[in-house]
Amino acid sequence: MNIRLTSIALASVIAGAAALAHTGATGVVLERMEGMKAMGDAVQAVAPMMRGELEYDGDALRRAAETIEAHSGSTMTDLFPEGSNGDPSEARDLIWEEWDRFAALAEQMQVAARGLALAADNGLAHEQGGMSTGTMMGGGSMMGGNVSGMMGGGMMSGMTAADIGAMPADAAFAMASQVCSACHTRFRAEDE
Ligand code: HEC
Repeated sequence: MNIRLTSIALASVIAGAAALAHTGATGVVLERMEGMKAMGDAVQAVAPMMRGELEYDGDALRRAAETIEAHSGSTMTDLFPEGSNGDPSEARDLIWEEWDRFAALAEQMQVAARGLALAADNGLAHEQGGMSTGTMMGGGSMMGGNVSGMMGGGMMSGMTAADIGAMPADAAFAMASQVCSACHTRFRAEDE
């Protein structure tokens, strides 16, 4: 099997989307679930392209990035008023205990999505001249080194949308997916 740059982060996002907890949700909980679902759909729509299974389409990627951007940042955090969890919500209490950290991830999501929209014109790493596929995609060195290092430690620490926008589209996509995963891992109680 071809292990590609995005596969690890994507697996968790797509698995999450498969187990939607919509049922019975109302008000702000339903609203944020729908926002998340729209982001999940956007990610899934472009994932095959990122894996090289569909022809690359920069416009489609940009649209997906714009959908993600529209549902992140304060648009996202406004939908998490304190204490708005409990069945059927999967939001953990930790969100309000660590609000700054949660809000920072929602902000990073927006920055990453903006960067992804910019990166849409760059094409996939292996299609870029002079950039070695081995380095970018091969052993997942980007994932194992830079990306997860940044996410694990200081997150995207200091990266701007322009920085991400300079990356190959699939690297930027991996970056954005990592933000989804980072927030879910900490703040969302996923069905096992
Ligand atoms: C800042 C935190 C944060 C970020 C960033 C984030 N999510 Fe979420 N996501 C959550 C939380 C919390 C829930 C659970 C909400 C609830 O059940 O009340 C959730 C739920 C979901 C759901 C399930 C919705 C449902 O109907 O139950 C999907 C799908 C999802 N997220 C996809 C994504 C995708 C795709 C991204 C990235 C593009 C993303 N999320 C980014 C925090 C985040």
